[in-house]
Amino acid sequence: MPRTDTWWRDAVIYQVYPRSFADSDGDGMGDLPGITARLQHLKDLGIDAVWLSPFYPSPQRDAGYDVSDYRSIDPRFGDLGDADKLIAEAHSLGLKFIVDLVPNHTSGEHEWFQAALAAPPGSPERERYIFRDGKGPDGGEPPNSWQSVFGGGAWQRVPDGQWYLHLFDVSQPDLNWDNPQVRAEFADILRFWLDRGVDGFRVDVAHGLIKEKDLADWTHTSAILGGLEPAGPPPPMWDQDGVHEVYRQWRAVLDEYPGGRILVAEAWVQPAERLARYVRPDEMHQAFNFPYLDAPWTAEALRTVIDESLAANDAVGATTTWVLSNHDVVRHATRLGYPIGAARMHGIGADDPQPDTALGLRRARAATMQMLALPGSAYLYQGEELGLPEHTTMPDEYRQDPAWERSGHAERGRDGCRVPIPWEADAPSYGFGPTDASWLPQPATWAEYALDRQQGVPGSTWELYRAALAVRREHGLGGGELAWQDGPAGTLAFRNGDVLVLTNFGTEPAGLPAGARLLLSSEPLDDDGRVPTDVTAWALL
Ligand code: NOJ
Repeated sequence: MPRTDTWWRDAVIYQVYPRSFADSDGDGMGDLPGITARLQHLKDLGIDAVWLSPFYPSPQRDAGYDVSDYRSIDPRFGDLGDADKLIAEAHSLGLKFIVDLVPNHTSGEHEWFQAALAAPPGSPERERYIFRDGKGPDGGEPPNSWQSVFGGGAWQRVPDGQWYLHLFDVSQPDLNWDNPQVRAEFADILRFWLDRGVDGFRVDVAHGLIKEKDLADWTHTSAILGGLEPAGPPPPMWDQDGVHEVYRQWRAVLDEYPGGRILVAEAWVQPAERLARYVRPDEMHQAFNFPYLDAPWTAEALRTVIDESLAANDAVGATTTWVLSNHDVVRHATRLGYPIGAARMHGIGADDPQPDTALGLRRARAATMQMLALPGSAYLYQGEELGLPEHTTMPDEYRQDPAWERSGHAERGRDGCRVPIPWEADAPSYGFGPTDASWLPQPATWAEYALDRQQGVPGSTWELYRAALAVRREHGLGGGELAWQDGPAGTLAFRNGDVLVLTNFGTEPAGLPAGARLLLSSEPLDDDGRVPTDVTAWALL
């Protein structure tokens, strides 16, 4: 197969969160012209592709993951002309362009849902969603015990007494994927964007489309972005076998187009063998590797998850992906600043224990250098190349993530990783836009993370990412193979082609093999040329 058709197998794909990347008009909300104007920065960084979180018209009750029209652009972000320009600019820079597709649910403002509300029970309009009669003498109890991922019940009653299912916010009714109209509509939406030249789709909640037929009670709650459930009965709303038929159909649509168009599953599914079913040869191309992101900072845990991921993907002939941060989780520069093995955090507030920022950044740089040396494809989240931490002291009145309210304020939610990113230390909104407007407040300490404070500065996180991406490309690490090596106690070491990758998790500095020549390290080596604690080194063997 020509190289151009398999570009994704070793690609580094950079996630742009449109609300928070760059604001061209000063309204405090990022937009498409802002992204287009800053694309050169991503090219300079050395990535292969960008993935944009949703930019479609939306009431923005879940930051755009509540889509009211799948074939247009939210006026907050621009219009279709702006999207065409952005795609063209990405392509002219040699970058692939991936959009987000949200098939599990629409917005309540989507014309289909409005029609369903206006139509009677049993009507074809209601059949496109999951409407049911309630339980109890007057139908006043929800049809089953399912809980919303964001907290609270997963059913909402409508005035005529029926209930509809929403696995996420009440404003995000779940579609009925057993309905042929739903399938036909999404095949058509895929074509709409493929015809405009996009190179692929990141598929939201890919494991949720099909629900078990009888909608049986399930008493467990799904943590935010659940799917990595504790042992127990298999969840009737996640990872049903029927979803695979949908992806086979989509794959056939993509294969009608030239140039290697891809599908990427956002599927919180385990074990690795179940996840690998999404990337069988006639289904999707990639699935996010969330167990890697979730692994604690220990040599043992990381070795296990790396082995399991590679084995499961190899078995189906798929490439493995790696990811440490995205718009749904606490940024890894902050996560790694907490004690090792601390429970997964669902947002951080000013009154929570605060991270050790310096330690977090040190480990984050080492983690990233490990990730970028692993064979396969890697995902970066905007701002991590600046070493950006989570906003951990955001005043609660600014919070917009529906999980904050729906969880009864038990979860701070995801706003802390979604704050507009800093470009210029001394400009209003740190150069995010031309004014100081910013839809979420930026911490007062962020000048030091601004791009203009890091470009050309040896040792800065931005220069580290840039150097790592260049070495990764030069040595073909993404397309290589991993072979574990014996390293000093407390280290995790592997060989990928001619490069030795060693991360030191121990308390003592670790020596590199005699004759190894250092290519890059996440922090300087010590005076004796040894790799200090919480540092990753790449050396030529
Ligand atoms: C996963 C997305 O990444 C997240 O941001 C969103 O809230 C849910 N899916 C629901 O669409």
